[in-house]
Amino acid sequence: MVADLVRVEHISKSFSEVMALDDVQFDLRPGEVHALLGENGAGKSTLMKIISGVYTRDSGDFYVNGTKITGDLNPQSAQSLGIGIIHQELNLCPHLTVAENVLLNREFTVSGVLNEKKQNEAVKQYLTTLNLDIDPSTRVSNLPVSKQQMVEICKTLSMNAKIIIMDEPTSALTEKEIEDLFKVIAVLKNEGHGIIYISHRLEELSRIVDRVTILRDGKYVKTLNFADTNLSEIISLMVGRTLTEKFPRIDMKRGEKVLEVKNLSSFHGVGVKNVSFDLYRGEILAFAGLMGAGRSEVVRAISGADKMSGGEIVIHGKPVKIHTPREAIAQGLFCAPEDRKRDGLCVKMTLRENITLPSLDIVSKLAIIFRKLESQKAKMMIQNLKIKTPSMDQYVKNLSGGNQQKVVVGKWLMRDAKVVIFDEPTRGIDVASKIEIYNIINDLKRNGIGVLFVSSELPEVLGMSDRIMVMCNGRITAELITKDTDQEEILKYATQYS
Ligand SMILES: Nc1ncnc2c1ncn2[C@@H]1O[C@H](COP(=O)(O)OP(=O)(O)OP(=O)(O)O)[C@@H](O)[C@H]1O
Ligand SMILES: [Mg+2]
Repeated sequence: MVADLVRVEHISKSFSEVMALDDVQFDLRPGEVHALLGENGAGKSTLMKIISGVYTRDSGDFYVNGTKITGDLNPQSAQSLGIGIIHQELNLCPHLTVAENVLLNREFTVSGVLNEKKQNEAVKQYLTTLNLDIDPSTRVSNLPVSKQQMVEICKTLSMNAKIIIMDEPTSALTEKEIEDLFKVIAVLKNEGHGIIYISHRLEELSRIVDRVTILRDGKYVKTLNFADTNLSEIISLMVGRTLTEKFPRIDMKRGEKVLEVKNLSSFHGVGVKNVSFDLYRGEILAFAGLMGAGRSEVVRAISGADKMSGGEIVIHGKPVKIHTPREAIAQGLFCAPEDRKRDGLCVKMTLRENITLPSLDIVSKLAIIFRKLESQKAKMMIQNLKIKTPSMDQYVKNLSGGNQQKVVVGKWLMRDAKVVIFDEPTRGIDVASKIEIYNIINDLKRNGIGVLFVSSELPEVLGMSDRIMVMCNGRITAELITKDTDQEEILKYATQYS
């Protein structure tokens, strides 16, 4: 019998008072894709970090290729055993080039001098096998999140890993990139690699997965052959109950116009041209389109994150100038951005500080922060959003990925907002928590706030919005009324290159 690539049994791990893993088992066979599923904070990333030597286990047995690991691994020794991990939070050095990142600590040198040309050539080859059109000499900070994710994958593959852990690899990828990734996964499978695959996008599992293992609250629930189960069984095993309502839509009459964007242009990112739209009070306006259509660029320009190169923003009938996020906030316009690590969170601060940071003017006076008020506000947010944390003084970097995303979304909600913009708010969020985020969005709607909602998931766009602007190639290609349209029509306009 061929040995399992990895087998863990009775694994436990706690972080002070948090029991992240409690007697968990998992195994990976050669040539299979094994999905590890569970709600935010279930312990998926922690288990993967133990297998890849980032964390050490408190107890439990660990075998690689049938050999028992008696001590602890570290990332280097795990790597030399052929274990590679693509972390949930991107780990690239933004100021280095693609090639420098892929070959970090494995640089090509001749007599101590870096051979940049050779490096670029080698990395270009890896990128080509992945079917990726990325210039190896590009600085990583100039790439969109989706491309950065692909660079991470390229980096792991270049290390000849036999066991490849992908912690939410597709959460920031375009449909085409997902296709390319799945092709690569198929090749790796054929070559006998094993892939551990973590994702909250359950619909995509059927395309690649052989087996699934489900964790709940740090405990092992079940391992199933994918062919013998279905999504509703998987979801109820994940959340421990049956979920009924997927999209808690509320229908109400919209109020007066709150935001008017006229002929907006921006040269940042993929660039946008002549984008005009209106947003009304109590309305959810979705921006649909494929990744790279320019939706985030629109959002970044109106919220002051990028400089506009032309156009006008009118709030409540009054033209306003927004050059910085601070000016946007002063106008009552808030944005929960797409890249939480870069733009949305101070990961080295606590949960309490992150939640109240945008509201320092409310919780402080003359530079004195009122801790009690701050605590109250933070406590409310943690309860409302069901953020899984031992306390509000936990560092944000120690929260699970999905719980970090809840902080990004939640921290603006204590402000008096006129317009709230969400850019991919449910990325990396489990099925049950998605509904909590939808409820927050509905609360804003009920309170007469105009909500702008960028999402790549069409079911969510159709399930939650009132109106949809479709973008392609930096332009608006259609304005649709949600109740009168469907997925097919949106896709038609989303691919209308002209
Ligand atoms: N370094 C750490 N210090 C303290 N607590 C931690 C640390 N790492 C993880 N935890 C806690 O352990 C639990 C499991 O977290 P983990 O990141 O493994 O969840 P996850 O299943 O990957 O969730 P998600 O789907 O949101 O990414 C969470 O409650 C988290 O807050
Ligand atoms: Mg995780």
